[in-house]
Amino acid sequence: MADDRQTEIRGAFDAAAADFTALGRYLWEPIGTATVGIADPRPGERVLDACCGTGASALPAARLVGPTGQVDAVDLSGPMIDELRRLSADVPQLLAHEADVTTWAADGYDLVQSALGIFFFPDMTAGTDHLISRARPGGRVVFTIWQGDAMAAAGQHLGRAIAEVTNTPPPAPRPPHLFDQINQADLYAAWLSERGLADVEVSVNEMALTMTPEVAWLVIVGSGFRGALAKVPADAVDTVREHYLASLRHDGVTELDATTLIGSGRRP
Ligand SMILES: C[S@@+](CC[C@H](N)C(=O)[O-])C[C@H]1O[C@@H](n2cnc3c(N)ncnc32)[C@H](O)[C@@H]1O
Repeated sequence: MADDRQTEIRGAFDAAAADFTALGRYLWEPIGTATVGIADPRPGERVLDACCGTGASALPAARLVGPTGQVDAVDLSGPMIDELRRLSADVPQLLAHEADVTTWAADGYDLVQSALGIFFFPDMTAGTDHLISRARPGGRVVFTIWQGDAMAAAGQHLGRAIAEVTNTPPPAPRPPHLFDQINQADLYAAWLSERGLADVEVSVNEMALTMTPEVAWLVIVGSGFRGALAKVPADAVDTVREHYLASLRHDGVTELDATTLIGSGRRP
């Protein structure tokens, strides 16, 4: 079951790689920059960037550690890693690896960071504990997650559109996930403290996306939501897009909450 979920996640992001970059300037890059702002990589440091995607946090971190430092950027998806290698051609201290980071073996990092990745792990707690164990004693960890229902509205309108176009029942609600229990600042801080971290802090990074038709569709095709399109016949995707945009208009959705929680701590 966990393997099926992993394959599904990889498939969604493999297909999304090019559009993921296009959505980047609206969504991934500002969040990656905010994550790195808290993580504060310094010249010469060794950094692990887990679930790196196309480098929204790995690239700024690599620029900050400079040529004497190193960033290992790890992602499950080959197309994401290919895109990151292209984007980082002039940043030799960034090494992009296609791998499952929940079994990443190297350790002793000064900083372990992950923007919008840890909730994809089949076991979010075990995967996060593994990432923490990759930091050296005294090293920093920074993990960014969505706050509350951020982004959820886009998935709901997409689900409605797919059901209408494919004449299938509306999607069942997502099964309960640990993420639902820790997606507020105080709960997230408590969960990070339970991981054995010292000096835990959570900062709220408020953000909203203006849902022009272009951005609204990029939110679908340039993110994990794209996985839902896999079951839609190719010749029906344009119609799904029209229904999705109409559904947003019908409900007066002009902005999408994209607020994140940036949690940080130190491995004792
Ligand atoms: C929402 S994206 C975020 C990417 C990037 N950190 C950013 O902020 O733009 C989540 C990424 O996590 C990756 N991912 C999910 N599970 C993973 C795992 N077990 N190991 C490595 N990467 C994983 C996906 O392939 C995807 O690229």
